[in-house]
Amino acid sequence: MEKGKIIAIDGFSSTGKSTIAKAIARELNFLHVDTGAMYRAVTLYGIQENIISENDKENALQIVNHLDEIQITFRYNESENQNEIYLNGQNVENEIRSISVTNLVSYVAKIPEIRSFLVEQQRQLAWNHNIVMDGRDIGSVVFPQADLKLFITADAQVRAQRRFNEMEDKSETTLEEVKANLIQRDELDSGRENSPLVKCDDAIEIDNSNVSQEELMENIMRIVQSKI
Ligand code: DC
Repeated sequence: MEKGKIIAIDGFSSTGKSTIAKAIARELNFLHVDTGAMYRAVTLYGIQENIISENDKENALQIVNHLDEIQITFRYNESENQNEIYLNGQNVENEIRSISVTNLVSYVAKIPEIRSFLVEQQRQLAWNHNIVMDGRDIGSVVFPQADLKLFITADAQVRAQRRFNEMEDKSETTLEEVKANLIQRDELDSGRENSPLVKCDDAIEIDNSNVSQEELMENIMRIVQSKI
């Protein structure tokens, strides 16, 4: 088995990391892995098994005793043209984006045993594949030797507005709530002890606040072509 090319993409929530990663993967015919989806799938398991809830966030530590019951896989969906996540054989691509998962996932992602459990799987996914992986610690922890590291940023107001626009049911929340939740997650992600979100010295920073998707992708593909 051989290690393929690796493009690591990190950044705060809702900066458009996954959309960028997906687009690069399509362009280069690389495998795309959204590691946030993996932390979300573990969180979904915790909710489904009544281990964690909004009132019992710190119970997330108990999930560590159930890791051998959690199997995460990805399968390519031809019609959607994307890699989708499965939890114990069930496609959970939509469920993992729910508000309850979103509100609890940072509490799950800060637990060292859960991180090592997922990091090991993330490294295995790169064997025999060229890969674009997005998350928070891809360039710093999962693949410090990545062929290219991108760090995506965007203004909090712009991020909140984008996320709010994407929501199908806007009656459940407000723009202000979305923004507050986003800032809280930024703080939890960058303030945690284990693998906090940091920009690596060798990562190229891309600001996705005020550029069109076309401009952004043109700029990124220029960088990708020069490095890969
Ligand atoms: O990118 P996202 O919003 O889907 O990520 C969900 C959560 O998982 C977020 O709180 C940060 C965390 N995460 C992480 O800690 N490490 C990663 N590699 C990816 C995501």
